[in-house]
Amino acid sequence: MGKTLTFLGIEASCDDTAAAVVRLDSGGGATILSSVVEGQAALHAAFGGVVPEIAARAHAEKMDHVVEAALADAGLPLAALDGIAVTAGPGLIGGVLAGLMTAKGLSAATGLPLVGVNHLAGHALTPRLTDGIGFPYLMLLVSGGHCQFVAVTGPDTFQRLGGTIDDAPGEAFDKVAKLLGLPQPGGPHVEREAAAGDPARFRFPRPLLDREGCDLSFSGLKTAVLRARDEVIAAKGGLTVQDRADLCAGFQAAAAEVLAVKTGRALAAFPAPVLAVAGGVAANAAIRARLEGVAAAAGARFLAPPLQLCTDNAAMIAWAGIERFRLGGRDGMDLPARSRWPLDGEAAPMIGGGKRGAKA
Ligand code: KG4
Ligand code: ZN
Repeated sequence: MGKTLTFLGIEASCDDTAAAVVRLDSGGGATILSSVVEGQAALHAAFGGVVPEIAARAHAEKMDHVVEAALADAGLPLAALDGIAVTAGPGLIGGVLAGLMTAKGLSAATGLPLVGVNHLAGHALTPRLTDGIGFPYLMLLVSGGHCQFVAVTGPDTFQRLGGTIDDAPGEAFDKVAKLLGLPQPGGPHVEREAAAGDPARFRFPRPLLDREGCDLSFSGLKTAVLRARDEVIAAKGGLTVQDRADLCAGFQAAAAEVLAVKTGRALAAFPAPVLAVAGGVAANAAIRARLEGVAAAAGARFLAPPLQLCTDNAAMIAWAGIERFRLGGRDGMDLPARSRWPLDGEAAPMIGGGKRGAKA
């Protein structure tokens, strides 16, 4: 039997202002006592992407209320906590700073320990929060800002097996949606259209399948969709509903196949008992089904945390803070905000990190 630990988590590295209270109970299980996420989609909608300055200001404005709401939902005063965990990067620097300043202020005022957390470690450790799994496992992060395979061997030991060399898959879904006149965020809309489409009509490229290893690329795929769209428009003067559905289906099939093949390779390189996924793209049923199949073929359990814990949230930050704290992790008032902070310091730097804010 260990000690109970209750942490406040704070997250503000992209476009969600989030705070949560998580408790590690004496038996080793975890309970999410509260999790508050305030999105900013409406503020950025007119710009077709996250505007860093608008995001930073919104975080600064919302943060106090979000923290208060998380404590109120948990029914706990600050004095009942054992520590404060905060995303210290990677992400949009203005938002990271807004979170960090709040956490430092609370820590200075209460004397509670401060623990800086890598946002990607938060995603990567989520299956331990939700399902209590042990090490090792393979994590696939697939969202609008992340795309990487991570071998997780301990709370603080991550090996990056590969990732995107340009766009993240969610970013590709969003761009495809945009060029087909669908609303943002585009993923769910593309998926809905694809359900009525013929995935075989347009044969889009499967980027980097010919290259060894687990690196992925989505930028050329998006350009191929643009070209196919323009060819149809040039030939027919416009797109029918069926054309659009077929373009979505072809794109989704290509994205799903690339992710499936590369996941198979990652599992071959790192034969873990569990394949876990996180990120908004994990919500895609077609992609999820392919990944489940790959995991089953490799004899691995497939694990996808509930969607609200797959996407950005502060419960994962509180939990990752607890995990670091148990290893002796503590930070001082000099804890820096980092726009770039690779999970695996040994991995070669990536060419691109995703337009959403260079997550890794
Ligand atoms: O993890 P997330 O909420 O935020 C970050 O990007 O950090 O992921 C959002 C991304 C968006 O690009 C969105 O289009 C994509 O996940 N997404 C999907 C689906 N639902 C959300 N992509 C494909 N299919 C979906 N059903
Ligand atoms: Zn994230």
